[in-house]
Amino acid sequence: METLQIKDKKFAVSIPEAEILRQVRRVAGEINRDLAGREPLFLAILNGSFIFAADLMREIRLNAQITFVRLASYAGTASTGEVSELVGLNADIEGRDIIIVEDIIDSGLTMRHVLDMLAERHPRSVEICALLVKPDNLKVDLDIRYNCFEIPNDFILGYGLDYDGYGRNTRDIYTVTD
Ligand code: IMP
Ligand code: MG
Repeated sequence: METLQIKDKKFAVSIPEAEILRQVRRVAGEINRDLAGREPLFLAILNGSFIFAADLMREIRLNAQITFVRLASYAGTASTGEVSELVGLNADIEGRDIIIVEDIIDSGLTMRHVLDMLAERHPRSVEICALLVKPDNLKVDLDIRYNCFEIPNDFILGYGLDYDGYGRNTRDIYTVTD
């Protein structure tokens, strides 16, 4: 399936599954090396990161744990910076090495919110692991330690990412064509 229509938009494959998995393995290798001997807690941001988190975790060779939060940017645009916590953080993260697992960093406002929320709880360390980053759209300064792909500002879906709730279930990543 090279092209796809969802609602009013057409999409074409831009990152094939094999390339995604290659980059996920590379990043997992970096985490395995950097955190050798530690017991990190992965914190995956739902909904979009559920497939990335599943593939990443299965490449992690550390004695690791994973937990989830569910966030949503308010209504349509992320530009307000208003982020609501639909399912909050229950785990005790004090003294833990946290790796935030996010599907895509666009403006960076969601990630800023997560970092502020974590800082109040005194973790030992916090690193960001993002499948995708749109560097041209970043509105805040973020130190993104682990990243599979940098992409242009075009809208994408697949491999967990959605357009209006649809399209999460493709193995490849697609970019809008119109
Ligand atoms: P930010 O707060 O602007 O960085 O927005 C991050 C969130 O916006 C991501 O977690 C996604 O849910 C969503 N998002 C941003 N760009 C895209 C895209 O191209 N496709 C699908 N979702 C996106
Ligand atoms: Mg997301």
